[in-house]
Amino acid sequence: MTERTVVLIKPDGIEKHIIGKVIDRFETAGLKVVALKMVQLTQAILDVWYAHHKDKPFFPSLSEQMMSTPVVAFMLEGDGAIQKAFDICGPTDPADAPAGTIRKDFGVDKPHNVVHRSDSAEAAAKEIGLLFTPEELY
Ligand code: CMP
Repeated sequence: MTERTVVLIKPDGIEKHIIGKVIDRFETAGLKVVALKMVQLTQAILDVWYAHHKDKPFFPSLSEQMMSTPVVAFMLEGDGAIQKAFDICGPTDPADAPAGTIRKDFGVDKPHNVVHRSDSAEAAAKEIGLLFTPEELY
C-alpha cells in the first residue's frame, strides 16, 4: 500500500552536517521525497507533536534540544513507507539499533538519535498536518 510518512533530521543531525547522507538512505531504499523544508520548531508544535511524551521527565530537555536549531523536515512516499522509514532509522536508542541504520551509524544516545520518524499511520497523518500544507506537496 502506498503510504506517506514524515522524517525530521534533528538538531544533532544538522550539527553533524549529515543532511545529505541521511536523505540518501531513504532515496536509496526507493522512497520518494514528496516535500522537504527547514523548519524552526516551536513549543506549541512540540506540545502536539510529542503529546504522548508531555508527562515524561525528559520532555523539557527534549523540547529544548528540538528547538536548538532548525530541523530538516521531509515527507516520504512509497509502498509500506511508514515501516520502511522506521526500519531505516532504527529503534529510539542507538545502542539497540542494528548496524546500517541511521541511528546506529550516526546517533549517540536517546536524546541525540539524529532523526525522528512517524511510528504509525496515525502519527504520520498528525505530523503531516502539523508541518506541511497541501501546496508544499510535490
Ligand atoms: P523520537 O523518535 O523523536 O521520539 C521521542 C524522542 O524522545 C525520541 O526520539 C528520543 O530522542 C527522546 N527520548 C525517548 N526516550 C527518552 C529518554 N528515556 N530519555 C531522553 N530522551 C528520550
